[in-house]
Amino acid sequence: MEHALMILLSTVLLLLTAAPGTLSQPAAAPAPPGPTNVTKILEKGGQFTVFIRLLKSTGVASQLYGQLNNSDNGITIFAPSDSSFSGLKAGTLNSLTDEQQVELIQFHVIPTYVSSTNFQTISNPLRTQAGDSAEGHFPLNVTTSGNSVNITSGVTNTTVSGNVYSDGQLAVYQVDQVLLPQQIFDPRPPAPAPAPSVSKSKKKKKEDGDSSSDDSPADASFALRKVGSVSKAVWLCVISISLAWFNL
Ligand SMILES: *[C@@H]1O[C@H](CO)[C@@H](O)[C@H](O)[C@H]1NC(C)=O
Ligand SMILES: *[C@@H]1O[C@H](CO)[C@@H](O)[C@H](O)[C@H]1NC(C)=O
Ligand SMILES: *[C@@H]1O[C@H](CO)[C@@H](O)[C@H](O)[C@H]1NC(C)=O
Ligand SMILES: *[C@@H]1O[C@H](CO)[C@@H](O)[C@H](O)[C@H]1NC(C)=O
Ligand SMILES: *[C@@H]1O[C@H](CO)[C@@H](O)[C@H](O)[C@H]1NC(C)=O
Repeated sequence: MEHALMILLSTVLLLLTAAPGTLSQPAAAPAPPGPTNVTKILEKGGQFTVFIRLLKSTGVASQLYGQLNNSDNGITIFAPSDSSFSGLKAGTLNSLTDEQQVELIQFHVIPTYVSSTNFQTISNPLRTQAGDSAEGHFPLNVTTSGNSVNITSGVTNTTVSGNVYSDGQLAVYQVDQVLLPQQIFDPRPPAPAPAPSVSKSKKKKKEDGDSSSDDSPADASFALRKVGSVSKAVWLCVISISLAWFNL
């Protein structure tokens, strides 16, 4: 009995120690070496240093890495060259909030694989990674003529100027202008004309005052409390009915 147990134990130990080596060795050879690393591909291009920096700082790079690992749809990236970033009006990037920077970078990503020949048949508007399912939310339009592909955001018109990478799952194209989303750079309906700075601070105060009288959150919690006390009352009622029942 003890002998059998020893044999069983050592067999299990043997299997446990042997398994990683024997299992991983045949699997490692044919399997692709993990998901494609977008920043690595862009680094090879040499002219995308600003875009790479923004991909990393916004967290979009790791998002894409996970997506390429888990999605069958693939990804298409319009990578603006460094010179396209220097072509932006000074302060354009710094004027954006963190959220808008994420949206700007996601705006350059299509959550499907688009080969260079797909552009001819693709239907506008294209949904970008920055958009949700709502129509007209961060869309891009594409027009083609022969092999040339133009892209418009409504604010930026540009041309696809090069194929950087394509493997059937990930496609990277170079664009020579940063694609500025209409939602951030030309929002509609247009914002009201800025008031003179003197009356602005006055207005700000008024708005602050307004917001303090806006007590909808308090209303909501009051409603919740009311619901709570109603259910408590119902519960008490049930208890007293059952107590009454048992007394009978
Ligand atoms: C992708 O490649 C870059 C540059 O080669 C490297 O710094 C980064 O760690 C890689 N990312 C992952 C998730 O492997
Ligand atoms: C890729 O996806 C698989 C399964 O979804 C997961 O187990 C694995 O950790 C992922 N690898 C990376 C590098 O994210
Ligand atoms: C693309 O844009 C260029 C420059 O604005 C223009 O000359 C060309 O006709 C456009 N091509 C298409 C297919 O829209
Ligand atoms: C994009 O295409 C759609 C559909 O053709 C059109 O309604 C929309 O106005 C276009 N937007 C721009 C910015 O060209
Ligand atoms: C972009 O192209 C459209 C249509 O060709 C044109 O109406 C618009 O003025 C252009 N915008 C810019 C910023 O060049």
